[in-house]
Amino acid sequence: MIIAVDGPAASGKGTIARALAQHYGLPHLDTGLLYRAVAATVLREDLDPSKEADAVSACSFEDYLLDDPWLRTDEVGKVASVVSAHPLVRAALLNRQKKFARQPGGAVLDGRDIGTVIAPDANVKLFVKATPMIRAQRRHLELRKNGVLTSLDKVLSDIRARDERDSKRSEAPMLQAPDAALLDTSFLSIDAAVQRAIAIVESKTNAP
Ligand code: DC
Repeated sequence: MIIAVDGPAASGKGTIARALAQHYGLPHLDTGLLYRAVAATVLREDLDPSKEADAVSACSFEDYLLDDPWLRTDEVGKVASVVSAHPLVRAALLNRQKKFARQPGGAVLDGRDIGTVIAPDANVKLFVKATPMIRAQRRHLELRKNGVLTSLDKVLSDIRARDERDSKRSEAPMLQAPDAALLDTSFLSIDAAVQRAIAIVESKTNAP
């Protein structure tokens, strides 16, 4: 069984994908981490993320880099959004993601283009969303917990900028697949959102 989970930053898609993977005993790939690894390599090597050739040269990173907590910071996330708009960067990371999706027994993948490009044949597709303000509040709280002091306004404008870049790019933009179930987590607790996601998977896979 392949489960595709797409959605914008701080929508809850990562938490939901991890919970589904655990519930169904499936391997999970957070595909955003791959773009974040490219971004981290660009930053470390002082390359220009807006130049496609620079970003492409950062695509052959070592796997251990994926465990680096720095990848999960907003600084790297912002640059990940920039490098991910380059078609050749997406092409360089494509096979790895497709292979993960097609492993025997299935998998859960989360990102922006899983249901549309990486696994259009997924058994279940979820598009997870929440209002920009609620996503900003979640991210703001998380940043404060980690000792990063920034204003809610700044977090909100960063989120809007990232949404805009991720959904307006020409190659594999963030998009709800026509056959994806919409899950709005704006007013749901994490537990309730996960239960709703499981109910969607059940309804799609038990359908006659
Ligand atoms: O989900 P995330 O915040 O870790 O993703 C970081 C960036 O990577 C995101 O802003 C856009 C890009 N991305 C993408 O283009 N396609 C994916 N499947 C996953 C992430």
